[in-house]
Amino acid sequence: MKFSKFGQKFTQPTGISQLMDDLGDALKSDQPVNMLGGGNPARIDAVNELFLQTYRELGNDNDTGEANSTSIISMANYSNPQGDAAFIEALMGFFNRHYDWNLTADNIALTNGSQNAFFFLFNLFGGAFVEAKDSEEQTIDKSILLPLAPEYIGYSDVHVEGQHFTAVLPHIEEVTHEGEEGFFKYRVDFEALESLPALTEGRIGAICCSRPTNPTGNVLTDEEMARLAKIARRYEVPLIIDNAYGMPFPNIIYSDVTLNWDDNTILCFSLSKIGLPGVRTGVIVAAPEVIAAVSAMNAVVNLSPTRFGASIATPLVENDAIKDLSNNEIKPFYQQQAQTAVALLKNELGDYPLMIHKPEGAIFFWLWFKDLPITTLELYDILKEKGTLIVPSQYFFPGVDVSDYQHAHECIRMSIAADEDTLAKGIAVIGEVVRKLYDEAK
Ligand SMILES: Cc1ncc(COP(=O)(O)O)c(C=O)c1O
Repeated sequence: MKFSKFGQKFTQPTGISQLMDDLGDALKSDQPVNMLGGGNPARIDAVNELFLQTYRELGNDNDTGEANSTSIISMANYSNPQGDAAFIEALMGFFNRHYDWNLTADNIALTNGSQNAFFFLFNLFGGAFVEAKDSEEQTIDKSILLPLAPEYIGYSDVHVEGQHFTAVLPHIEEVTHEGEEGFFKYRVDFEALESLPALTEGRIGAICCSRPTNPTGNVLTDEEMARLAKIARRYEVPLIIDNAYGMPFPNIIYSDVTLNWDDNTILCFSLSKIGLPGVRTGVIVAAPEVIAAVSAMNAVVNLSPTRFGASIATPLVENDAIKDLSNNEIKPFYQQQAQTAVALLKNELGDYPLMIHKPEGAIFFWLWFKDLPITTLELYDILKEKGTLIVPSQYFFPGVDVSDYQHAHECIRMSIAADEDTLAKGIAVIGEVVRKLYDEAK
């Protein structure tokens, strides 16, 4: 069968499709697998209980005998393309209660997961633009500027045609973590960023960062964010903040930072990392013009976004339970996992050239094996043979030619969402393999 160029673009093997297949196959296999590769959130009992209770209540009518706004009845109709109105109303109240943003319903749209939001946004702001110059129309190719690579693997292949990313490599700073050596932190190289010809010559359509970052667990500082917001305004492009792990939900963030929004900022939230990845619900907070564009895309691609996640989350947003759950259950859970993972890694590889990215948030660890004698793609294969799954670093550099950037071949991403036994077994396998590699190279 012949596929169009568009079809071929999406059916060719990509980093993410390969990874998703591997992870799916591993979960189906009858061999025990130490799954440190995926992006699934952890199973947290208190979280699941609350969702289950809310889910059960969806079937109940309110006191008047009519179905309430978040009842199962709402799912019997399509919402309008902007998304479930009751959830949007609840989100507007929630954000205005906790932040000084003065949102109206025109500032919020829903999508089928935030991956869906990035598909829309990156195609809205990256690709061919027709602009008037000297009273003539010209076509300009614009890209999404990623101020700090490595970045989320899921961005890489979302453009309907080609790839439109410009990424800036990080400053790598050695830091301590809770008084211990052996950690590093990525920082934005603003000098490189501000002298990018693509930026100064008008070939950037938007700036985007995940905060906390998947894959590294880095959290861009408030100063870095303020500077990015200023640059975005100066060049009249939006700043997209991927808040999938950020505050106020799921709030998997340990550094002391704040979240800001203004009408040049596009904030993307998700219900996935609070524990509901299967309901596929993303939330965009942006200027009305962006919301209208996303709604129009929703109409064509989805008719209307799914209402199931919206129905479960509406009461939790209305009564702030989503915030309490994030602060009291989700964040402490991952903080504890991070401590465990540091201790296990130090135990296995404390005497070897392992550097851990300072754990500041998200559900991943980013490990740097300095001068590892093989690439981490090769390491991935060895670990897979031994039943431990991680993700090699080279996939996390959209917009970067990694062929001559050694650092992009020396790191791995490891999930810390697994139960403690799996985490311990997986890290033991990583330790054994990596020690042998370094020992044999001596
Ligand atoms: C940084 C980041 N952004 C976006 C997504 C997409 O999440 P979802 O489509 O489940 O909302 C993920 C998923 O892992 C992620 O890690």
